[in-house]
Amino acid sequence: AVEEKSISKAVIKRLPRYYRYLGELIEEGIERISSNELSAKMRVTASQIRQDLNNFGGFGQQGYGYNVPYLYEEIGKILGLDKTHHMIIIGAGNLGQALANYVKFEKRGFKIVGVFDINPVLKGISIRGNGIRMMSELPEFLQKEDVQIAALTVPKSSAAEIAELLVQNGIKAIWNFAHLDLNVPKDVIVENVHLSESLMRLSYNLTVAEQKEEK
Ligand code: NAI
Repeated sequence: AVEEKSISKAVIKRLPRYYRYLGELIEEGIERISSNELSAKMRVTASQIRQDLNNFGGFGQQGYGYNVPYLYEEIGKILGLDKTHHMIIIGAGNLGQALANYVKFEKRGFKIVGVFDINPVLKGISIRGNGIRMMSELPEFLQKEDVQIAALTVPKSSAAEIAELLVQNGIKAIWNFAHLDLNVPKDVIVENVHLSESLMRLSYNLTVAEQKEEK
């Protein structure tokens, strides 16, 4: 069983990657793996792996390695992936539609139950079985349906106002794609996703590599 102690943010940040690799091992039919083998696959030091996974206790056994299905399941539980989360998408533009069209979220337990927009032209258009609804329907929808997560894919200018509306209607987790730091009460969790920041890191590394070549 997973101990109820606080796990560092750095470890939590690495867990999805462990989860992904372990999932691949399961697909390959691999039932156990040593920290050294996992280290070679993931390009993380074996001691880092042991340290990270020791946080949860009882996963690894001396001379046996890790039990892959067990570790996968336990990390899944830590990440809350053993439950289904209902998610809505606010803003059915390019990005919102792309997210709504992505099938694999559902496999991970994130079920898209509603897609909302303000543009009447989009009303009723179906994305994988979800007809786009108008924002005016949102409060009633949230009262009736059990929704845990809202993805925010609207222009920056309306993000703050929509976040407030979501919070007022009981949403506790926002997956924020708008380029704005949201101001929400402490009990509301915001996860920001900024592809451009990732691209800037890529640009930085590319620049460093190019400078090395010039020398
Ligand atoms: P888009 O213009 O295609 O879609 C935005 C949608 O939001 C439109 O359908 C529009 O009708 C709707 N909308 C506008 N005001 C609304 C309101 N008050 N309530 C509900 N819906 C409303 O734009 P796109 O390309 O899909 O981008 C959406 C947002 O995501 C933008 O803020 C953009 O900057 C951001 N973005 C963020 C990325 C990231 O990595 N974080 C990557 C790409 C875009």
